[in-house]
Amino acid sequence: MEIQLWREILDPYRQAVDELTVKFEHMIEEHHNAGLYCPIVQVSGRVKKISSILEKCQRKNVPMEELEEKIEDIAGIRIVCSFTSDIYRLAEMIGKQNDLTVICVKDYIKNPKVSGYKSFHMHVTVPIFLSDRVVDTKVEIQIRTIAMDFWASLEHKIYYKFEGHAPEYISRDLRACAEIVSNLDAKMLQLNEAILEEKEKEEQKKKEE
Ligand code: GTP
Ligand code: MG
Repeated sequence: MEIQLWREILDPYRQAVDELTVKFEHMIEEHHNAGLYCPIVQVSGRVKKISSILEKCQRKNVPMEELEEKIEDIAGIRIVCSFTSDIYRLAEMIGKQNDLTVICVKDYIKNPKVSGYKSFHMHVTVPIFLSDRVVDTKVEIQIRTIAMDFWASLEHKIYYKFEGHAPEYISRDLRACAEIVSNLDAKMLQLNEAILEEKEKEEQKKKEE
């Protein structure tokens, strides 16, 4: 395919990634300005490289004409949160945004992948206003905790290193690490709730004095 055609196809996805990144960054600012706790720690986005799109089409047997229909992650946003509870709170906030339409969600936290992968995925569309038309553009939003992100980035590196065929003991160790990550997330959430409770007690005490 010609480079000009690729540009035409990918341009709305670029715009969608830019717009959503700004949107979530402003959400952080809005919370900070209001003195509220923000469920988002960090936002990043990317448009899939042409070579990766071609590789995925080949792997999934998708003809070029069906590329935009079948490849769900041409535009991707990744949001990192502190706690698992933040993920569900944020997902609810995203569901309420009038400019986004949620197509489907995949809860790999409640149902982790065989690899041990955990994250909450939302497939949404966002209307992108081009000079002569509006296109509802698909974006995959991945929401995960810092710990899940740590695991996923290392696992991704190893997966590529072995081109998907890592030795069994490495896959096994990675699954074991995923378990440790889950326990850590649960413990941190518990700890945070205990801290909040203590803080509330302290404030109550101050009021009574
Ligand atoms: P991909 O071809 O991997 O995109 O899978 P898919 O189109 O069938 O969708 P799926 O929901 O399985 O995965 C979507 C995305 O989640 C992937 O592109 C990765 O970014 C991430 N992901 C899914 N499984 C794993 C995993 O086992 N390890 C890591 N590190 N990331 C994963
Ligand atoms: Mg993908």
